[in-house]
Amino acid sequence: MSMEKLALHGGPKAVPELGPFPTKIGKEELWEILSMWQFSPPTAQKLRELIESEAEVKGPHLFRYYNPQPSKVAAAETALRELIGTRHCLAVNSCTSALVASYRALGIGAGDEVIVPAYTFFATAATVASSNAIPVIVDVDDSLTMAPDQIEKAITKRTKAIVPVHMRGAPAQMDAILDLARRKGLPVVEDVAQAAGGSFNGRRLGSLGTMGCFSFDYYKIIVSGEGGFVTTDDEWLYTRAQSWHDCAACWRPDRFAQERREGELFCGENYRMSELEGAVALAQIRKTGDLLARYRKAKQQIKDAIEPVPGVSFRRLTDAVGDTGICLVWFLPTAAQTRQAIEALQAEGVPAGGIYDSKIRDWHIYHYWEHILDKKAVASDGLPWSAVPAPQLPPYARDMCPRTLDLLSRAIMLDIHCEYTPRDCAAIARGINKVLRAILK
Ligand SMILES: Cc1ncc(COP(=O)(O)O)c(C=O)c1O
Repeated sequence: MSMEKLALHGGPKAVPELGPFPTKIGKEELWEILSMWQFSPPTAQKLRELIESEAEVKGPHLFRYYNPQPSKVAAAETALRELIGTRHCLAVNSCTSALVASYRALGIGAGDEVIVPAYTFFATAATVASSNAIPVIVDVDDSLTMAPDQIEKAITKRTKAIVPVHMRGAPAQMDAILDLARRKGLPVVEDVAQAAGGSFNGRRLGSLGTMGCFSFDYYKIIVSGEGGFVTTDDEWLYTRAQSWHDCAACWRPDRFAQERREGELFCGENYRMSELEGAVALAQIRKTGDLLARYRKAKQQIKDAIEPVPGVSFRRLTDAVGDTGICLVWFLPTAAQTRQAIEALQAEGVPAGGIYDSKIRDWHIYHYWEHILDKKAVASDGLPWSAVPAPQLPPYARDMCPRTLDLLSRAIMLDIHCEYTPRDCAAIARGINKVLRAILK
């Protein structure tokens, strides 16, 4: 049998050419995406015909890394970084993931304590526990954000971070919190899930603390269905958050390089954002300025038209200019009057609601976080609670933050719609005036 000359030695190649193969994602997938937009049947038909008329089309990669096309996720990171004004920005698949990635980047783990507010979506606190650390829950004040005096009291030698939440679109008390954190040498992780685009003293939320965590889930200001971002000025924390968000990929400047410094290589998880969410997030980030202008205008019109009534006060804003305008909150003297007013407002067609009612479970209020209050563990190791001698755990109790429960039981909340017309705003304010006058006569 004659020996063929190897290609290595100048012989013909055994496999001269492979492909081109169609891309994995093609017209069918595009059609599934387009069908989520509710086009009229004639337009949908035209779109379908137009797409089918194209003989062959290269589909998208949909994975941010090794993407032959410019990555939408990377573009969204750049856009958010520029909007918020930080040196680094990392896209992840949720704010829950952003919080865990931030806590882990900061080296928070078993036996550490993290201070969170009593009024926030449960994820802020749950992620502390799922990072194996202990959430320390503190009261909010009439700004409905963490009370700085309570934070100071809650600091122990185990404290590893403070997590202010810019709740319902309004900035937390960042001057006092940053001052305290500086004095105590503690990092601040801002939970910006509900306040993307807001600012405090002229600086965008998410750029004031050590790290900022954003949510792009569907119910937030700017959305991509699911999605989140971490912002920071600190390159080391960015690198560590990035490693946590993509287990074993170890991107860094050089993916397969040896560890440059202890703490650079560790086992993480997978919180990567897909290119589909990246594309939507990019378009949404570009809309932020316009959206906020509309929210703020509608809120201001309603607020200005509410007549003063003795005993009624608005939620204190730490920075009225930096408030995103997505929500108007005011307090009544008693919980009973508040319940009565809410019923009357809803009967008038005003879409207002309460925040805390002792009979209605709500994951935004620590009182219902039995996972934490009852120290539930996911595994038999009993973590995070078993990492600390039981007497040294925070004295959790359902009534441990009475100021929060009192304020929230007397609060009425009106979510502002950015599509409200001046007429809608006037009608809503009229309804509020009518009810408050009747109830507090
Ligand atoms: C204050 C706050 N933090 C964190 C989260 C979690 O965000 P995600 O749904 O993106 O995980 C939310 C979502 O509701 C939130 O409101």
